[in-house]
Amino acid sequence: MSVNLGTTYLGLQLKNPLLIAGCSLTGDVSGLRRLEDAGAAAIVLPSLFEEQIVHEDIQISQVQDFGTESFAESLTYFPELTDYHHGPDSYLETITAAKSAVSIPVIASLNGSSEGGWTRYAKLMEDAGADALELNVYFIAADVEMTSEQVESQYLALVRRVKQSVSIPLAVKIGSNFSALPNMAKRLVEAGADGLVLFNRYLHPDFDLERLETEPKFCLSNPDDLRERLRWIAILRNRIPASLAATGGIHCGGGLLKALLAGADVGTVASVLYKEGIEQVGKILDRLTELMEQKEYESVEQLQGSMSREKCPDPAAFARGNYMKALSSFPSQPI
Ligand SMILES: Cc1cc2nc3c(=O)[nH]c(=O)nc-3n(C[C@H](O)[C@H](O)[C@H](O)COP(=O)(O)O)c2cc1C
Repeated sequence: MSVNLGTTYLGLQLKNPLLIAGCSLTGDVSGLRRLEDAGAAAIVLPSLFEEQIVHEDIQISQVQDFGTESFAESLTYFPELTDYHHGPDSYLETITAAKSAVSIPVIASLNGSSEGGWTRYAKLMEDAGADALELNVYFIAADVEMTSEQVESQYLALVRRVKQSVSIPLAVKIGSNFSALPNMAKRLVEAGADGLVLFNRYLHPDFDLERLETEPKFCLSNPDDLRERLRWIAILRNRIPASLAATGGIHCGGGLLKALLAGADVGTVASVLYKEGIEQVGKILDRLTELMEQKEYESVEQLQGSMSREKCPDPAAFARGNYMKALSSFPSQPI
């Protein structure tokens, strides 16, 4: 039996539901060809960051105000950014080069948090040939005076602004830290998101005890990270008129199948490719096909969302239900 892996994401017809998440592996055009050859249905480019754009704007202003030193303090704030892999202009060139290198859709990624002039890059990304845009709203609400309502308004204003400037589809990548995530998801869609990418993985600082300094640490995911995505995708499936992408913890064909059963239109991978190589793309797709054949699914479309909250025989599993039962399965003494 042959299975149909085709799916639709952000209105794009895809040959299968496996995307490469934005990461350094998608930043190199020759690498993109390898990812396409391995079977990826679309790729998300690494992000262009608000800080990079603002940094460049400051540098341009500094050249214009040469001698005044008016931006010296702001410039020291971004010292390492000149070393980051792309400046804004070369990012746009990468989009164009990626489009001519591969025939699968290329999704550009813009990463920021405030509603500023930097968002003009959304339109520039569209003009450079991106098939869709992923807006990664990476915001840490560290101000004790800032309310959750203000945080949410900031997200929505940013999404509205970006959506107004582009005609390509817009996906919004968010973290899970909202007290009313489904309602926030609904309002993001009303603000213009054509799809949601769930979830961002935040950088958590660690402490270097020798030097008593903070050190940023970005860890690769593990398969257990997928479960938080399964919960929320299962809850959101068919509740908001938007595509859903699972990102975080898909490491094998079984993980991708779970994301689709919960209700994702696509799953994205990054960590597993760093850990085990690009050939994992093909292995994940082969395993997905094998599992679908075993379960007698003929198409991805047929199975998508069949374990979502509305379809699942045990909807309480996605809420508070089973919590006490799960805890009571642990022994009362350490082993
Ligand atoms: C090395 C690395 C670089 C990443 N860079 C970006 C980025 O530029 N923009 C972004 O939105 N996400 C970025 N991510 C996050 C991934 O897109 C993805 O959402 C996350 O890693 C979860 O998927 P995974 O469990 O398959 O790794 C990066 C992840 C890794 C591992």
